[in-house]
Amino acid sequence: MDTQPTALTQRPQWAALQAHAGRIARTHLRELFAADPARGQRLSAEGAGLYLDYSKQRVDEDALRLLLELAEACGLPARTAAMFAGERINRTEDRSVLHVALRMPKGERLEVDGVDVVAQVHEVLDRMAAFAERVRGGQWTGHSGKRIRNVVSIGIGGSDLGPVMAYEALRDFSRRDMHFAFVSNVDGTDFSEAVRGLDPAETLFIVCSKTFTTLETLANAHAARAWCLDGLGGDDAAVAKHFVAVSTNADGVRDFGIDTDNMFGFWDWVGGRYSMDSAIGLSTMIAIGPENFRDMLAGFHAMDVHFRDTPFERNLPVLMALVALWNNNFLGAETVAVLPYAQYLKRFPAYLQQLTMESNGKSVTLDDRRVDYQTGPVYWGEPGTNGQHSFYQLIHQGTRLVPCDFIGFCEPLSPLHEQHDLLMANLFAQGEALAFGKTADEVRAEGVAEALVAHKTFEGNRPSSTILAQKLTPHALGALVALYEHSVFVQGVVWDIDSFDQWGVELGKVLAKQTASELGADSPPELRHDSSTNELIRRYLDQRGS
Ligand code: F6P
Repeated sequence: MDTQPTALTQRPQWAALQAHAGRIARTHLRELFAADPARGQRLSAEGAGLYLDYSKQRVDEDALRLLLELAEACGLPARTAAMFAGERINRTEDRSVLHVALRMPKGERLEVDGVDVVAQVHEVLDRMAAFAERVRGGQWTGHSGKRIRNVVSIGIGGSDLGPVMAYEALRDFSRRDMHFAFVSNVDGTDFSEAVRGLDPAETLFIVCSKTFTTLETLANAHAARAWCLDGLGGDDAAVAKHFVAVSTNADGVRDFGIDTDNMFGFWDWVGGRYSMDSAIGLSTMIAIGPENFRDMLAGFHAMDVHFRDTPFERNLPVLMALVALWNNNFLGAETVAVLPYAQYLKRFPAYLQQLTMESNGKSVTLDDRRVDYQTGPVYWGEPGTNGQHSFYQLIHQGTRLVPCDFIGFCEPLSPLHEQHDLLMANLFAQGEALAFGKTADEVRAEGVAEALVAHKTFEGNRPSSTILAQKLTPHALGALVALYEHSVFVQGVVWDIDSFDQWGVELGKVLAKQTASELGADSPPELRHDSSTNELIRRYLDQRGS
C-alpha cells in the first residue's frame, strides 16, 4: 500500500485549518457569542422541515470559509452529481449508490444501464402497498384462515436497524391492534422471546436479507419456520401464508422455501444501511400504512433535493458534515453523542451507529493509500433526559471533547404537554450549559465554599448542534435520516474513502464459520488458533453442557 502523504493533507485548506484550529483553541464560545449578537440566528440553516443550529459549535467565519473551500477542493459538487446520476461511486464493489432513487416521486426518471430505476422502485412500492393493505385489512390470512395479528421481521444490520428504529419512531402512527417484533441476534433468546406467547396461526414472518446468505438471519428464519410449522401441524404449505421475503437474491429465497411470488425485491445499488426506505421497510409500511410510508419517502426526498440544490453555506448535510469534520480532524474529538429528546427515537443512535461507522470506519483512500488523518468518529447516544442522569457528567466536566447532536420536536405526540415543555427545557438547557458553562467567579458569587469551587465550575466551550423539527412525523423522520445519510457521504468525500463498502466485517464472519464447524464437530476438534482462542474454546466445550 502506498504510504505517501495523501492528497487531503497536502491541500492548502487543510494546513490553513490546522493553523486556525490553534487560534480557535484559545477562543471560548462565550467570546464568539459576545462578539456577534446575531450568531445564534446567523449560524443556522433550514431545509426539508428541519432547522439546524450550529452556532454552539467552535467555528468562526474563517473556519467555516476554509471548510467550505476544502469541500469544494475535494470535488464535493462533482461527487454529489455523480451519486445522483447513478455513477458507480462505490468503487471497491463497482456499484452505483442510489438510495436517493428509492424516494424519487413516481413519474421522475433515472436511468442506470438503460433501465429506469424509478419505475422499478414504484413497481415494488405498489406491490408492497397492496400487500400491506391486505394484511392490515385482514384479507391476507394465515394457513388456518385466521387474521394476521403479529408481524415478526427477521434481519440484521441494515436489514433490521432501520425497520426497528422506524417502527419505534413512528409508533404514534402505527396500528395499535397489531403486534410487531424484530429478531436480529443469532442468540436464540432473541427469537424465543420475540415469539413467546404468539399464536403461529396469526403470525407473519418477514425475512429481510439483501444477500439472503447472512448466518444470523438464516438461522433465525429456520427457527421461525420450525416454530411455525410445529404450531400449525407440520404442513409445509403453511410457509406460503406465513413467510414473505425481502431480498435481492431470488435463488436464495427460493432455496429457503419461500415462493418468490411472496418476495419483494430491491437492487444492488441500495446499500444495506441505506435500505430502510426500500422493501426492507415492509414491516414499517404494514405498521404505519402505505400513505404514511409515502410521506416518510417524501421527507427523505425533500432532504435529497435540499442537499442536491442548496448552496453549501446553507446546506444542512454539508454544514453538519463539515462541523463534524472540524471537530474530528482539527479539534481532536473522537466521538459524537446523538441525543434525541424524543423517547420514540430511542433506537435512532443505534441506527446511526451502522450508518456512520460502517460507512466511514475506513483507513484506505479511493486511490489505495493509507490515510494520514482520522476518519469516522464513534457515534453513540441515548434519548434525553435519561442520558443526563448517567453519562452527561463526562460531557460537562470530563477531560474529553464530546460534540453533541441534540434533536428535538416542537409539538408533542403525547397528551402530556407540560411534560413536553420540561423535556424541551432540558434540551435547551443542556446546549446552553455545555457552551457557556459556569465560571469560578460565578460559582463563588453563589456563596460556594472555596474548597468546592473547582468542582462546581463548568469550563463550557463544549460544542453542540441542535436539530429542531415541528413534530416527529413520518416526513420529519425521513428528512432526519436523509440528513445524516448525506452528512456521512460528504465526510466520506472529503476523507476520500469508499463510504459504501464494508470489507471490515468479513474477517470475523470467516473465522466464525470456521470456529462454528469446530464447535459442531462430533469428536473434540484439533484447535489451531492462537493460545488464547484455543483455551477459550476448550473451556467453552468443557462447560457448555450437552
Ligand atoms: O455484515 C454487515 C452486513 O453486510 C451489513 O452491511 C448488512 O446491512 C448486514 O450485514 C445484513 O446483510 P443482509 O441484508 O445481506 O442479510
